[in-house]
Amino acid sequence: MSDKAILEYGGERFEFPVIKGTEDELAIDIKTLRASTGMVTIDPGYKNTGSCESAITFLNGEQGILRYRGYSIEDLAEKADFLEVAYLLIFGELPNKEQLEKFHSDIKEESQVDEEMKKILDAFPKSAHPMGVLSSMTSALVAFNPSCVDVASESAMYNSIVRILAKFPVLVAWTLRKKKGLPLDYGDDALGYVENVHKMMFKRPNKEYTKDQIAINALDKLLILHADHEQNCSTSTVRIVGSSHAGLFASLSAGISALWGPLHGGANQAVLEMLEAIEADGGDTKKYMAKAKDKDDPFRLMGFGHRVYKNFDPRAKIIKKSADEVLGNLGIEDPILDIAKGLEKEALEDKYFVDRKLYPNVDFYSGIIYRALGIPTEMFTVMFALGRLPGWIAQWREMRLRKEPIGRPRQVYIGEKHREFVPLEKR
Ligand code: ACO
Repeated sequence: MSDKAILEYGGERFEFPVIKGTEDELAIDIKTLRASTGMVTIDPGYKNTGSCESAITFLNGEQGILRYRGYSIEDLAEKADFLEVAYLLIFGELPNKEQLEKFHSDIKEESQVDEEMKKILDAFPKSAHPMGVLSSMTSALVAFNPSCVDVASESAMYNSIVRILAKFPVLVAWTLRKKKGLPLDYGDDALGYVENVHKMMFKRPNKEYTKDQIAINALDKLLILHADHEQNCSTSTVRIVGSSHAGLFASLSAGISALWGPLHGGANQAVLEMLEAIEADGGDTKKYMAKAKDKDDPFRLMGFGHRVYKNFDPRAKIIKKSADEVLGNLGIEDPILDIAKGLEKEALEDKYFVDRKLYPNVDFYSGIIYRALGIPTEMFTVMFALGRLPGWIAQWREMRLRKEPIGRPRQVYIGEKHREFVPLEKR
């Protein structure tokens, strides 16, 4: 096969190199397109555009494959913990025991958040959406850690990375505690990373914290499954904001805002709200299936479909099993779950959904587990952000180390041609 692609336009031929990824993915390298032809490409939603070369995550939507740094998501979810996966994503290899211990101890050294940050949190109304609070608090962290912005060296990058891995869970816990009216607190350095997250979120002021291994394991798995997903909307946002050298924390804050939307990370909240609405409306799943298929009705079945997985979402398979285990172990019977199961069964057998390859995605099940763990619906996307943190960091670090240029797409202008200015009194 030729390693060149030919473009013919206006009687001229232009050649472009074809590059091949390690999994044989092919891409036409059009870096010289505008200079040689005067044209740009147009691709709204970037469905056909590779924004970078990346060695972090491989996914094949047709075959339902997801791998971090070459390791399958199935293996990682079963055999590794979240901190190991974070190290793997960021630095490229699974850590040995010493590397993992050093990484964890460096994180613990940074696990305090300036007390002044509490005043910022205090200023938010209790009704504020936790994703807005988290994004603002992450951005506010820049003011308290100015040395984390200009990170030219790898060691300066490392310092910002351990700082945010340490402080972000505190912000997540504070966001929840504010919502619940609980006093703000710090974690416990004697605990594992995820165990500490659990404690920070759920510790009651008047009760000893008791370790809940089922909840911690479920949380660990959910965080691993969400840890990276190559160039999705929020990750692309982190990379593009980072490409202006705005610094890690500001880039992450932008990524959190991108994740907030219901077509992306906000889907897990939207799924639960949809299930609750169906229950409140008498639990008629068939009615909502019909609404989802009606082109005149804007309703979509939240938690179904995926931009890249067009067969099944491998994370959904793992998480479905985990949801069954958690609910079984905790002895939870939930009418919402029955509605979810009903919708899943109907959609998997329905021609509209089968023809369009619309399968339940990871967020169809994650909300169900978070609900069982006692996490309020509005916090679901915050939990997603906590899981995605190492992926965002890894992608930002890769972008900086590869010295990628500032992200600046082109456009095709379709507005008015030049017009004479009309003074106000003559309009
Ligand atoms: N319910 C009903 N119909 C749907 C749904 C759905 N959830 N998703 C897609 N369709 C239909 C579309 O109407 C379209 O139909 P048509 O071909 O007759 O016009 C067809 O399926 C293709 O849909 P697109 O929107 O073109 O698919 P795209 O890949 O752009 O969108 C997306 C993917 C945004 C995830 C979409 O499936 C959706 O909105 N799903 C619900 C929201 C959701 O669960 N998001 C979470 C994504 S996972 C994540 O972020 C971790």
